[in-house]
Amino acid sequence: GTKGPEKYEEVDEKEKVPHYEQRKWEDEQMSSAIFRVGAKNREQQEQYELLLDNQIDFIQALSLPGNQEKEEEEQLTEKQKKKLNIEETKKSLPIYPFKQDLIDAIREHQVLIIEGETGSGKTTQIPQYLYEAGFCDDKMKIGCTQPRRVAAMSVSARVAEEMGVKLGCEVGYAIRFEDCTSERTVIKYMTDGTLHREFLSEPDLASYSVMIIDEAHERTLHTDILFGLVKDIVRFRSDLKLLISSATLDAQKFSEFFDDAPVFRIPGRRFPVDIYYTKAPEADYIDACVVSILQIHATQPLGDVLVFLTGQEEIETCNEILQDRVRRLGSKIKELIILPVYSNLPTDMQTKIFLPTPPNARKVVLATNIAETSLTIDNIIYVIDPGFCKQNNFNSRTGMESLTVVPISKASANQRAGRAGRVAAGKCFRLYTAWAYKHELEDNTVPEIQRINLGNAVLMLKALGINDLIHFDFLDPPPHETLVLALEQLYALGALNHHGDLTKLGRRMAEFPLDPMMGKMLLASEKYKCVEEIVTIASMLSVNGAIFYRPKDKIIHADTARKNFFLPGGDHLVLLNIYNQWAEADFSTQWCYENFIQHRSMKRSRDVREQLIGLVQRVEMELVSNPTETVNIRKAITAGYFYHIAKLSKSGNYKTAKHNQTVMIHPNSCLFEELPRWVLYHELVFTTKEFMRQVTEIESKWLLEVAPHYYKPREIEDSTNKKMPKTMGKSRAELGEH
Ligand code: CDP
Ligand code: MG
Repeated sequence: GTKGPEKYEEVDEKEKVPHYEQRKWEDEQMSSAIFRVGAKNREQQEQYELLLDNQIDFIQALSLPGNQEKEEEEQLTEKQKKKLNIEETKKSLPIYPFKQDLIDAIREHQVLIIEGETGSGKTTQIPQYLYEAGFCDDKMKIGCTQPRRVAAMSVSARVAEEMGVKLGCEVGYAIRFEDCTSERTVIKYMTDGTLHREFLSEPDLASYSVMIIDEAHERTLHTDILFGLVKDIVRFRSDLKLLISSATLDAQKFSEFFDDAPVFRIPGRRFPVDIYYTKAPEADYIDACVVSILQIHATQPLGDVLVFLTGQEEIETCNEILQDRVRRLGSKIKELIILPVYSNLPTDMQTKIFLPTPPNARKVVLATNIAETSLTIDNIIYVIDPGFCKQNNFNSRTGMESLTVVPISKASANQRAGRAGRVAAGKCFRLYTAWAYKHELEDNTVPEIQRINLGNAVLMLKALGINDLIHFDFLDPPPHETLVLALEQLYALGALNHHGDLTKLGRRMAEFPLDPMMGKMLLASEKYKCVEEIVTIASMLSVNGAIFYRPKDKIIHADTARKNFFLPGGDHLVLLNIYNQWAEADFSTQWCYENFIQHRSMKRSRDVREQLIGLVQRVEMELVSNPTETVNIRKAITAGYFYHIAKLSKSGNYKTAKHNQTVMIHPNSCLFEELPRWVLYHELVFTTKEFMRQVTEIESKWLLEVAPHYYKPREIEDSTNKKMPKTMGKSRAELGEH
């Protein structure tokens, strides 16, 4: 792009954000959905606005700067103030006037669908209302599922604060590899995957009096499967209340699925949002975001900005560029507070997002999809929407799964825009053309169950004793071939026998909260006498954040540090090496800092590791270790990941073993310049090309040893086992990767 701060400084028409043209929606229905102010009548509308005004006043009053002495004096009352503030805020939420009606409806009906605009208070308030109404008597729990980890953590923290209790006591959360609940916990937030897993130990959910399947509109795989499971349970547990809560228009569909359960609508409160589109498509949307943020900051009245990016990496890049430009502009502009939000965000950063913006400053939140509906950040007036998100996609023909950046749907775009209209009239800047919105975006996002690998889900259902998957009660059934492929994969992994029943190995695999392939790798490590090593590798792979730290101004140092960990054999061994060295350095933070390793990710992998060790002991595996036998370690990995094999072809490209798809080694891999003949990869990521991430060199004959029922000798024939000459490797620049 040619835009930069220079252009931004030229802006003279104060009223306009030059980059955009304003367009109202041509589609009437759409626009009414967004411009609707959901109060039943004028009176109610005024009441809402009054409440809202109070809330804003209160927040501003609290954040006024005082002098030092006064502040200290006020510390005593700060707690009281906070409590008062919480009370006010609770009362200001759209759900509040319906508290009693809602409780009555829940008492009256066993299953209730609750529909309400994002931010109306469904997630934080309903469990509290139920608690107050006595649904937790006799130590019965209220469960509430969330599709996202951060949401489960941050919402439970908020609710604990509102109730004045310590997180993990009466209010707690559980996510994969982390259980922050106790004997006393009666309000439990958890990811949908965690509840799915809980069915294994408590198939009738006996300890719950209420189960809330929240954010149902997100339609994640686990949420979709939970629908079928809980629908079954309410038939024989007449005392269990089931609430399905959703932000948008799917309520009717949910109602039909749950035998025409009544729908409780919470009238929304939404101010008008003006939509702006770019005149031409954007070549570099990160750059366009930065420019737009600065333009808004320079030309628009104060009010916070929310920017939707696709992932942590993008957010960090955008953050760096923005920080840099802001620094260069110096005192020419007002204070700009930049806050990233993504799923691995450390807890202290999470709380920061919710702090009120100081007067005369502007907050810019750089977020992933998580801010679309799961998290509500108050006082957002401007939304910047590049129109993309990261999606897990699965090709049922080739069995290949990859993480891909894709255009969002119209429904998503409208949700995003709506985030600007919660507290006042807002503006949404779309980094795509009005034409693209109308003609290129799908109406709705395809539910996950119809586009991802079902191996994990099928294993879990089988472990729950549900054998007839074809007739399982799905809200939207997955494609037949995806189900069949999942069954085939589980059979090849040894988890199912030829009748489709779970084997002993399959039963053990289901004990681990891991994908079938990783579970199989772990169990195979017993045979190869390297359980400790594989547990470490599995925990390093399970950290869904970057391990390496690569700041823009120290790229060379960071890359050198990274290369110092390289070992022959591949990235899995490098991960093991990093963990072991860190352990030897007494898990030191300083060590991470010196080696450009992300301490946060390491800490998490250490937690995951501890959990896995516990599970390994529970299934009575012996914790054998053999750090020097790298062939055995790699064989154990191959025993789990023999689906993820690629072979170097004569053209210098890699082709996947079974389906001949072209893939490349990711430039960050230690094998990027090595180009071994046969490799195994952990995952495929599609950016500029289809890249293999976490790559390890294998010998093709191992495939016959670990998966004789999947590979035939002919398929792994090799005329030469020699490595390709180095010159065939492509440089980073050629691949367009930074
Ligand atoms: O679930 P729903 O979208 O209906 O709303 P919610 O998540 O219960 O949010 C209600 C209010 O709580 C919003 O004003 C949020 O900003 C606030 N909240 C917060 O301040 N801190 C959190 N960690 C979560 C929510
Ligand atoms: Mg919610």
